[in-house]
Amino acid sequence: MLSRVAKRAFSSTVANPYKVTVLGAGGGIGQPLSLLLKLNHKVTDLRLYDLKGAKGVATDLSHIPTNSVVKGFTPEEPDGLSNALKDTDMVLIPAGVPRKPGMTRDDLFAINASIVRDLAAAAAESAPNAAILVISNPVNSTVPIVAQVLKNKGVYNPKKLFGVTTLDSIRAARFISEVENTDPTQERVNVIGGHSGITIIPLISQTNHKLMSDDKRQELIHRIQFGGDEVVKAKDGAGSATLSMAHAGAKFANAVLSGLKGERDVIEPSFVDSPLFKSEGIEFFASPVTLGPDGIEKIHPIGELSSEEEEMLQKCKETLKKNIEKGVNFVASK
Ligand code: NAI
Repeated sequence: MLSRVAKRAFSSTVANPYKVTVLGAGGGIGQPLSLLLKLNHKVTDLRLYDLKGAKGVATDLSHIPTNSVVKGFTPEEPDGLSNALKDTDMVLIPAGVPRKPGMTRDDLFAINASIVRDLAAAAAESAPNAAILVISNPVNSTVPIVAQVLKNKGVYNPKKLFGVTTLDSIRAARFISEVENTDPTQERVNVIGGHSGITIIPLISQTNHKLMSDDKRQELIHRIQFGGDEVVKAKDGAGSATLSMAHAGAKFANAVLSGLKGERDVIEPSFVDSPLFKSEGIEFFASPVTLGPDGIEKIHPIGELSSEEEEMLQKCKETLKKNIEKGVNFVASK
């Protein structure tokens, strides 16, 4: 017999039974991301799908005594993908290929665009109300691809489509703490724009460190923009960030679930369908968003920028516009 306290604790963990699906769960990001989702008490039904390895990862994770059921799905079984997605609340997409040394995120477009397009079409069919979190690169183009697919299927909800840019914010917090000798857990840096090279704009002028010397600040900004390259180089052909990315993905997924659950003041940056620069033809932009029961509740303005940041924003917008158009045209042309 359960004690009254134990019963109450149990019932509070099952009060928000969220179904979550990871597409690409057997990969470098997918595996640790699935582990972190297995440890998240908001998740009660975890579905893992990959071209290979999802069953093994699911069975492995299923032995962890948290309050969720984990199941693996493969493309070989009938309706494997649709069963993985059926009526799920959240779909995370880390499926695709990662960078090798010398590659930019844009170089991945040729392979990842069609992978993301096809998975988005499956999600539109089987989980039309789910929040979709796109991790596969190039995020600046894959998010518009998903939006276009959902639009074509008549189920596009801009409040529930997210490009995961959390890794840029966590890198910014870590790197600024290294140069300023501060506690990284207390650092917050707004990172806006997109998720590749010069489209990543960390707003140092909005932190407590705005008096940093020009050299130090420029070096820091460059490191935040190209931090992913450090990992690609160190892994020497074995891929890009997977563990820090899994942490970032799980952090953002938890924020989305917290919003769905009705928690207040849940704010995270994300690359979303945004009104901020729509008048200039830029349909998607990363900035802090408040997450709520229906997905995005509020898209925050970017605030005041320094003249240096204004210049970065101009360059970002030129690249971003092209990246977004490339994604939209890819779907339109098929
Ligand atoms: P990986 O190659 O280790 O894993 C990718 C997985 O996707 C593989 O297991 C593969 O079998 C699977 N996959 C491929 N096509 C699929 C399909 N049609 N359906 C289901 N699964 C499929 O790559 P990794 O390191 O996990 O990276 C995944 C993606 O995440 C890459 O595009 C990478 O550039 C991106 N990424 C994004 C970041 C971000 O901040 N948003 C940061 C780091 C990586």
